[in-house]
Amino acid sequence: MEKRAYNFSAGPACLPLEVLEEAQKEFISYAGSGMNVMEMSHRGKIFEGIIAKAESDLRSLMGIPDDYSVLFLQGGASLQFYMIPLNLMTTYRKVHFVDTGIWSSRAIKEVEKFATANVVASSKAAAYNYIPKLSKDMFTPDADYVHIASNNTIFGTRYTSRPDTNGLPLVSDMSSCILSEVIDVSDYDLIFAGAQKNIGPAGVTIVIIKNELIEKAPKNLPTMLDFKTHAENGSMFNTPPTYAVYLSGKVFEWLIKNGGVPAMQAKNEKKAKLLYDYLDASSLFRGLAVKEDRSMMNVTFSTGDADKDKAFLGGAEVRDLLYLPGHRLSGGMRASIYNAMPIEGVEALIDYMKEFEKNA
Ligand SMILES: Cc1ncc(COP(=O)(O)O)c(C=O)c1O
Repeated sequence: MEKRAYNFSAGPACLPLEVLEEAQKEFISYAGSGMNVMEMSHRGKIFEGIIAKAESDLRSLMGIPDDYSVLFLQGGASLQFYMIPLNLMTTYRKVHFVDTGIWSSRAIKEVEKFATANVVASSKAAAYNYIPKLSKDMFTPDADYVHIASNNTIFGTRYTSRPDTNGLPLVSDMSSCILSEVIDVSDYDLIFAGAQKNIGPAGVTIVIIKNELIEKAPKNLPTMLDFKTHAENGSMFNTPPTYAVYLSGKVFEWLIKNGGVPAMQAKNEKKAKLLYDYLDASSLFRGLAVKEDRSMMNVTFSTGDADKDKAFLGGAEVRDLLYLPGHRLSGGMRASIYNAMPIEGVEALIDYMKEFEKNA
C-alpha cells in the first residue's frame, strides 16, 4: 500500500482510507457503467441514484425531519454568509450574531454590506479563546434570526449547548463539527457546512433548512442565490459538483457502517480526551482555548515560545504528522481530529509530543 501520513489539516482534511480505496476501485468504471462518476451526466439515472442515496443517508445519520430540505450547493460555506441573510431577512433586515472568531466575523461583514449586523457578544478581546455566556434577553425580537458558528475551526472552541434565542430562528455554521456528535436538527432552523472537513472533498456545501424558511424568502432573488431554486430542483438546477457529492455519499455510507454519529461521538470524545489530558498534564505545552469551551475537532495548543513551536513543527513533519501549524491568526499548533482521523494518529502525535517535551 502507498504511504499514508497522519494528516491533521483543518480542511481539506483526511478522508477515511476505506472510502479512498472504494473510490479507487470504482475510478475507471463505476458499477459497470464503463466510466468514472465525474464523466457521467448528472441527468442520468446513475447519478440521480447517487445523489438521492447521499441525501437519504445523511437524513438517517442526522435524523433530519421531513419538513427540512437538504441541499448540495457550491460556493463554499463562505457563500452562505451572504445567501442566508438574502433569503432569511424577511422582516427586520437585522441579524443577531455571536462573534466567536474569523468565520462569524466574515458572516457579520457580509450582512453589514446590506443590512444590520448586531453583535450581541464577542470573545475577540481574549483572542477568541472562549464562547461568550449568552442569555435569551440578549436576543431582542427585532431581528430576523440568530447566527452562530457551533465550532470555531481556527481558535478551537465550540458551543456545548444550544443558546436560547428567545424564539428567533437559529442558523448555525457547522462546517467543522457536522456529524461529529449527536445533535437534534430540530433545534436549528438552518445548518450549513462546507464538506471539506468532516464530510468529503471541497466543492460541495451542505445546507439543511426548514422548508418554512424557504417559503417565506423574498421573491425575485437572483436564481442561484434563492434556496427555493435548489430545493425545487433536487440540488440539480445547474450542474452539481458530482464527484464531491459521490465521495460525500461514500463517507455517509462509511459512517453508517461504523455505527453512525453516536459511535463517531464516542470515538471523538476519546481522541479529544487523550490529547487534552496530555496537554493539561504537560509542563511544556498548553491548550489555547478555555477548558469548558474546548473543541472536540480542532485542538489548539502552543509551548508559548515561537522558536520551540517552530522546532516542534519541524520534527512533526519529519515524522509524517502533517499540517499541524496553527492558523496564521492564532499561531502555535492546531491538530484537527475529524471523524476520519484514527485514534492511532492522535496517539502518534502524543508520543511525539512526549518525546519533544522530554528533550526540550
Ligand atoms: C467554521 C467555518 N466556516 C466557514 C468556513 C469557510 O468555508 P469555505 O472555505 O468552504 O467557504 C470555514 C473554513 O475553514 C470554517 O472552518
